[in-house]
Amino acid sequence: MSVSTKSKDRTARAREVLARCDALANFSEETNSLRRTFLSPPMHNCHASITAWLKPLGVSTKLDAAGNLRGIYPGTGAASPRLLVGSHLDTVPNAGKYDGILGVVLAITVLEELDGKRLPFAIEVIGFSEEEGVRFGVPFIGSRALVGRVDEDLLERRDRNGISVREAIQQFGLNDREIGEAILGDDVLGYLEFHIEQGPVLEKLGRQLGVVEAIVGQTRLALRFLGRANHSGTTPMDARQDALAAAAEWMCAVESHARQCPGLVATVGSIEAKPGATNVIPAEVRLSLDVRHRSDEARTRAVRELTGLAETIARKRGLCSQWNPLLEQNTVLLDGFLADQIESAIRNAGCESHRMTSGAGHDAMILAERVPSAMIFLKSPGGISHDPVEAVLPEDVEKAIEAGIRLLDQLASSQDFLERMRRA
Ligand code: GLV
Ligand code: MN
Ligand code: MN
Repeated sequence: MSVSTKSKDRTARAREVLARCDALANFSEETNSLRRTFLSPPMHNCHASITAWLKPLGVSTKLDAAGNLRGIYPGTGAASPRLLVGSHLDTVPNAGKYDGILGVVLAITVLEELDGKRLPFAIEVIGFSEEEGVRFGVPFIGSRALVGRVDEDLLERRDRNGISVREAIQQFGLNDREIGEAILGDDVLGYLEFHIEQGPVLEKLGRQLGVVEAIVGQTRLALRFLGRANHSGTTPMDARQDALAAAAEWMCAVESHARQCPGLVATVGSIEAKPGATNVIPAEVRLSLDVRHRSDEARTRAVRELTGLAETIARKRGLCSQWNPLLEQNTVLLDGFLADQIESAIRNAGCESHRMTSGAGHDAMILAERVPSAMIFLKSPGGISHDPVEAVLPEDVEKAIEAGIRLLDQLASSQDFLERMRRA
């Protein structure tokens, strides 16, 4: 493979990657910020752009019934086994331009760098429809479809407007009854995902790229404090059942609890008070809770303690509390063979590598249930993500492209990988 001869244009390629991420950031549900949730109308534009970029490579795309955009770059054989390369196309509200999207754009760029060369395996580019959990409260709808984990409960979940996952699929022009067809077959060799780190580790170490060894587990819950509405002017302070005051006490308790437990992160990311008027004591508060720890035992213990604290605080104030689990995802180890290959690809691209754990969740943690999965991280300047200032440096993108090409080269000549293909 012509790794060195292509290196002259790689700076231009990296600039093009960033320009494509900029272009996709225009497809938003909101005018002044980026928000693109599961199968929302701007997802159509996003798919159209990606399809147009893949077409000159001879790759035609299709949508599976979960709204994942998929296109196959054939290998040398008529029915070569596939390596999946991709990430997600949905975003959080007020998002940055790179979380997820960069991984899909880099997959396309690595194919462009092949310059028409065929490998002994096919490469399937995937833009997952949903990873963030914004619209339906549960994440990974796209990648769950590939491992057969979209069940009736998930299809019946409703968004804020009362639209179910099933209806969202139908409204996008897809057939929910075909969801089983998205499940991966035995011809899949593995899954590779490029992603921004979304944290400060690589920058602190002065590294451009990292290889992910594990993705920490996470629990997501929906909680409610139920009190009693009353008049703000007439109700004495000692005669109130204020759901928002209880929620505030609990939120501070969550923060101090997490600060005392090494490695634990716990976040209340959304809150809504009802009825929501200045002169009414809040009767009901709905909150989200996101708890993560590398140790599943430490995470589940923390969740027990934090929900217990909610009950204690509610009882003390004459209220009640309720909670519903939305996600229970254990820590996942990624594939050791692919991690070793990525590490040498990063070194061969002229960078020092760093092995790390991801605190953010990724589609790779779902695909790892079924196929060997791996991730390459790019440094996040300032360690900021899930915010419009999220960034990635062109020189790091350039190195990621080079590492990607070297990785494909290594895999194409690796006896272990070829053996894996023979078994696929
Ligand atoms: C995805 O961004 C996550 O919540 O980790
Ligand atoms: Mn992401
Ligand atoms: Mn994200």
